[in-house]
Amino acid sequence: MPTQSVLKMGNKQLAQPSLAVENFSTAALFNLIQDMKDTMKEKGGVGIAAPQIGYQQRVIMFGFEHSKRYPNEKPIPFTILINPVIEILDQAQTTGWEGCLSVPGIRGLIPRYNKIKYTAYDPEGNLLTQTVAGFHARVIQHECDHLDGILFPRRIVDMQFLGFEDELINAGLIPPITS
Ligand code: NI
Repeated sequence: MPTQSVLKMGNKQLAQPSLAVENFSTAALFNLIQDMKDTMKEKGGVGIAAPQIGYQQRVIMFGFEHSKRYPNEKPIPFTILINPVIEILDQAQTTGWEGCLSVPGIRGLIPRYNKIKYTAYDPEGNLLTQTVAGFHARVIQHECDHLDGILFPRRIVDMQFLGFEDELINAGLIPPITS
């Protein structure tokens, strides 16, 4: 399947809540997943949510072996989550630099919960549940926000910590994007 263009901040579709998937193992769902996978891979994202390619459906995916955009982060197994629900296991939050394929060239310092448990379905409708922490938990919180129409700049606490990638790299605040 062809890769899709990624909608950018300002597009109204990114600000709308997405709808729960009701039918699993359908051709439409598998096509959507393939498009998301191809697009995420081409753009070098660590995750993507269906609304980013124009589908208002509660589908996210994430995972990488080595990320060019987040070279210091440990691998996350590739995972597809449908209708994900997050339970916060620890009220403690950590700030970390986040970017988004829908906010190209920009990063912000965002607080996220350290430890969460997610419950979701796989594309065949099997229940998945897992407890995750750190960057893994951050990525899932970021992708689930997309399903509620929230982009990371809305989570910034101090606007001083919103910047362009090249400037943040020059300032030593984020690692260089590797090739
Ligand atoms: Ni994003």
